[in-house]
Amino acid sequence: MTFDQWTRQVLDRVESALDHYLPAADVLPAPLHDAMRYAVMGGGKRVRPLLCHAAGELTNATPEALDAAACALEMIHVYSLVHDDMPCMDDDDMRRGKPTVHVKYDEPTALLVGDALQSQAFVTLTSDVLGAQRQASLVRELALASGSIGMAGGQAIDLASVGHSLTREQLETMHRLKTGALLRAAVRMGALAGETPSAQDLDALDRYAAAVGLAFQVVDDILDVTADSATLGKTAGKDAKDGKPTYVSIIGLDASRALAQQLRADAHAALEPFGARAQRLAELADLVVNRVS
Ligand code: IPE
Ligand code: IPE
Ligand code: MG
Ligand code: MG
Ligand code: MG
Repeated sequence: MTFDQWTRQVLDRVESALDHYLPAADVLPAPLHDAMRYAVMGGGKRVRPLLCHAAGELTNATPEALDAAACALEMIHVYSLVHDDMPCMDDDDMRRGKPTVHVKYDEPTALLVGDALQSQAFVTLTSDVLGAQRQASLVRELALASGSIGMAGGQAIDLASVGHSLTREQLETMHRLKTGALLRAAVRMGALAGETPSAQDLDALDRYAAAVGLAFQVVDDILDVTADSATLGKTAGKDAKDGKPTYVSIIGLDASRALAQQLRADAHAALEPFGARAQRLAELADLVVNRVS
């Protein structure tokens, strides 16, 4: 199977699974469920679900278990985007090529869509397809990655840093939390959804995920400067306008591009012990770094 065929297959599965794990749009309160589906369905690159499925192939996880983990990750990610776009945070009016949730609906709805998606993510992880022991370990992974020492903590640092210059070390910490933590969780949760991985294997996957997670936000910072809004599906040029410290503002565009390539090489190196079995993860590292949107 080519990488494109594999990706298409996973994306199709994840789309149906999201439809399954989200409450139907006519379930009460229908306007909230409609807005949750507006935010989640039919959009985004689904990088976290893809990483989760690719990692799960290494531990023979069932596709159904991986779908549940992938959907939970995507729900948390979408919640983070809906809140990130709100006027009290980045104040963006376009996301995934459509009006943001607070623009299409209203601010209270956007707040509640995020809240409800976060809860639904954990409901999804208690699905029978995972079994009690995996449910507990995956809930812990996702909760840690999305809370104050993960995504939410990174967002707090991001907002507190507006208008300030950060040291390179502080910038890396912020990126590792706000974006890296959930991408790392995607890889770990995929692996933990199958047969228990050895400590060495999990360690190697962690090194891979740390590199890909940081690379992802470095590339996001680059694309904010180099790509246009139509391609990105969100407003380009927003970081500089808002005075956000980014890799581009702190080390420059060329050094940021070089760093992304270095991180791609680090990700590949971490996968060496797995050989050809880690082909999809290797291809995903390339996708993350070479993407144009
Ligand atoms: C955007 O994430 C926000 C960051 C964490 C950098 P993605 O680039 O994964 O957004 P979608 O899911 O494809 O819309
Ligand atoms: C967002 O980072 C990270 C999270 C949503 C957790 P950004 O603010 O850079 O994401 P975009 O550029 O709006 O997608
Ligand atoms: Mg932001
Ligand atoms: Mg933003
Ligand atoms: Mg950005």
